[in-house]
Amino acid sequence: MDRKQSLFSAMISLARIIKGRPRISPALDGNAMLQTILNRRSVRAFQARSIPEEVFSAIIEAGRLAPSTVNLQTWSFAIFSPETWQQSFSHKIPFGGNRAVIIIADTYRAKQVLNVFPDCPLLEHTVAVMNASLAAMNMNLAAEAMGVSSVMLSETGRTGLLDANYIRTKLNLPAGAVPLMTIVFGYARGAPPPMPPRLPVTQIVFEGEYPSTDRLVMESWLDQMVAGYNISHPGSSFAKQLEVYQRKISQAESDLKEIVFGKNGDID
Ligand SMILES: Cc1cc2nc3c(=O)[nH]c(=O)nc-3n(C[C@H](O)[C@H](O)[C@H](O)COP(=O)(O)O)c2cc1C
Repeated sequence: MDRKQSLFSAMISLARIIKGRPRISPALDGNAMLQTILNRRSVRAFQARSIPEEVFSAIIEAGRLAPSTVNLQTWSFAIFSPETWQQSFSHKIPFGGNRAVIIIADTYRAKQVLNVFPDCPLLEHTVAVMNASLAAMNMNLAAEAMGVSSVMLSETGRTGLLDANYIRTKLNLPAGAVPLMTIVFGYARGAPPPMPPRLPVTQIVFEGEYPSTDRLVMESWLDQMVAGYNISHPGSSFAKQLEVYQRKISQAESDLKEIVFGKNGDID
């Protein structure tokens, strides 16, 4: 593709991104909870404004009350203020956030009283990840409902799954406790970003057997991802960011294998 063609293709992709919005029946427009869910955006620029203590406590409470497999509550939440984050990680909370919570998939606590997962580390870890992720989403939406924005991070700032070993050491986590992501909370600075491109319903919903993938739709989605990333990250590019991930993931994969399956492939 020459320069002119690729510029044209980027413009089309950006136009598609701008046109993308939630599609629901107008009859449901007045549903506040639905609007909160559909209009939520990951925010990466925050005001220097504190989140009141009762608001932050309510966010944590939303995580504590999330649903979980057999009500095992396989999660822990490590909470930070800007000061404690700085002390722990020697840099600021990413994007100028005011509070941060590291979401940890945690079977250590339940195992002290109940042998729930004898010799099935993959199942144990999957259950813990599933439950802790639901708690994370509960917190995220509770925050949105109170006007607090957030972003979940698994790579940015060495605060998630791709740096699980680093965080385990920093927080002295026991076996069975795996950091998944950091949620950064704060009051958004500026207008919310446009919705990153979503796959159409026809690609992700099916009845009966799994359908064949529509390559053209997938290629259009990828073009939009690249164009959207490049325009919103002037100092970087989609290709550069992909390189960062690719450099980190093989180390992260071997660290995670050791965390989940133990050094010799057997769990503690
Ligand atoms: C588990 C998880 C990890 C994420 N990690 C990062 C990250 O490291 N850096 C970042 O800028 N965004 C991160 N995101 C945010 C996604 O990029 C974002 O959710 C996605 O582009 C969709 O945009 P939206 O949340 O505004 O709908 C993460 C999201 C999730 C759910």
